[in-house]
Amino acid sequence: MPNRQTWLWSDFVSLTVLYLGSVRCKEFYVQLGMTANLPCDNLSKVTEVEWMYGAQLIIRGNVKTGNTFREKLPVSSRARLIGGSLQIRNVESADSGHYTCKAKTKNEEHDLYVVTVSSSPSGPFLRSKKVDLRCQIGKSSKIKPKWLRPDETPVSEGDTHTLPSVDFSDEGKWVCQIADKNFSLNIAVLGILPGPNLTVNESDSVVLPCVLSNPVSKYAYQAFQLLEGGWAQISPKSDHLLSLRMEGSELYWNKTGVRKKELQFSSEKLGTNLSLMLKDVKMKHAGQYQCSLKFKDKGTLKFQVSLQVKGQPGGSAVVPGTHGNGSIKGLLFGLNLWLWVAIGVGSLVVISLIATVVCLYQRHKRMKKRRRQKRRSIRQPLTARDYCQCNRSSRGPPNGRQQETSYKKGHQC
Ligand SMILES: *[C@@H]1O[C@H](CO)[C@@H](O)[C@H](O)[C@H]1NC(C)=O
Ligand SMILES: *[C@@H]1O[C@H](CO)[C@@H](O)[C@H](O)[C@H]1NC(C)=O
Ligand SMILES: *[C@@H]1O[C@H](CO)[C@@H](O)[C@H](O)[C@H]1NC(C)=O
Ligand SMILES: *[C@@H]1O[C@H](CO)[C@@H](O)[C@H](O)[C@H]1NC(C)=O
Ligand SMILES: *[C@@H]1O[C@H](CO)[C@@H](O)[C@H](O)[C@H]1NC(C)=O
Ligand SMILES: *[C@@H]1O[C@H](CO)[C@@H](O)[C@H](O)[C@H]1NC(C)=O
Ligand SMILES: *[C@@H]1O[C@H](CO)[C@@H](O)[C@H](O)[C@H]1NC(C)=O
Repeated sequence: MPNRQTWLWSDFVSLTVLYLGSVRCKEFYVQLGMTANLPCDNLSKVTEVEWMYGAQLIIRGNVKTGNTFREKLPVSSRARLIGGSLQIRNVESADSGHYTCKAKTKNEEHDLYVVTVSSSPSGPFLRSKKVDLRCQIGKSSKIKPKWLRPDETPVSEGDTHTLPSVDFSDEGKWVCQIADKNFSLNIAVLGILPGPNLTVNESDSVVLPCVLSNPVSKYAYQAFQLLEGGWAQISPKSDHLLSLRMEGSELYWNKTGVRKKELQFSSEKLGTNLSLMLKDVKMKHAGQYQCSLKFKDKGTLKFQVSLQVKGQPGGSAVVPGTHGNGSIKGLLFGLNLWLWVAIGVGSLVVISLIATVVCLYQRHKRMKKRRRQKRRSIRQPLTARDYCQCNRSSRGPPNGRQQETSYKKGHQC
């Protein structure tokens, strides 16, 4: 009976392969949302295959006819048989676990790990924000993920890598390596490109630079929503210059109510260039300027540039409000100030001197007058007629008797 012998033979083979097969256990790392393929090979003599998740049946099928039966597990609806292999579409974290292919000839066992690569917050990022890169393995795995920078230099071992202040140099494809498999995460950074400080000659024009690394419209689908933004002078005085507005996903300047004649700006959609031209620059325009964009839930981008205005030949240079540095303007102003102080103090001294002198003079005069009056009032009773008589008698012809009386009376004086 060849038939029976074949069965026996196949049972023997299946038992031995079952034993060998159950020893082999492969690990599969698949990124969240991707498709997992768990193989079950060498089924040439077998038609019926069962796939188990742990101890639960997922799917059972006939390899030859393609008839399948699915259990009502979460994974079942996304599972199908290809030959004897199991394909799971759109894997979820909960799909991680132990899988077994059961066939008459053998059991084949696999561990599936669903890998989640993500960032917190989600990108794209505003420059200089803190960003955590995460590479999480679904079920407990002994393997530690490794992060590689876009230039392939390794940075850290472990599932989280932190960028304290994300920059343009961090842009690109980061790789999380698990068991020689690569899981990538693309990083995009929106920022304002750095630019130099400016010096301009008086009455020339100057472009205050503000250039975005990417047009905001590129991230419109990621809900980049402008709350406010534009140009302002921030020192030495604070002065709003020009506002941005968003129309659809594009940035424009808001022209409404802009009365400053020295500003020249585009009325087209801006793309990445938010630069502003100042025409006929005056000394008073020197200072610190800021271009900023505030996005809903994302944060604020800021760029500052300082503008120095050089005067006409022979004129004085104006250095913007540097901290306590003696600019020439400051120096001149300082000199002026000292001069004014000196003049003020000098005049005060002179005025008070004059006042004192006048006072003293007046007092002296008054005293003199009073003394004279006093002297006169004391002399009055003594002199009067007697003195005059005295005088008169003395003025009389010189004779012995009269002289005697004169002497007598004069003695009274
Ligand atoms: C399948 O069988 C072939 C020989 O028939 C063998 O070389 C191969 O290793 C087998 N594959 C597996 C996965 O068992
Ligand atoms: C994984 O990425 C590294 C660095 O980018 C590369 O050298 C390596 O070949 C990649 N490995 C695989 C399997 O793609
Ligand atoms: C521009 O000037 C400010 C101070 O006025 C300074 O902090 C900043 O570093 C300067 N930037 C460049 C690019 O030189
Ligand atoms: C400013 O003026 C000086 C001469 O007054 C000239 O040499 C210099 O090139 C000018 N700078 C700019 C930026 O025009
Ligand atoms: C433009 O500016 C005007 C005046 O400042 C303001 O009333 C208006 O709301 C702004 N428009 C937009 C779209 O921001
Ligand atoms: C940005 O626009 C200004 C004019 O507003 C222009 O002078 C400048 O060259 C532009 N910059 C770039 C990078 O396109
Ligand atoms: C003032 O600025 C000049 C360069 O412009 C610098 O050499 C000097 O050290 C500064 N002085 C102070 C007190 O900051």
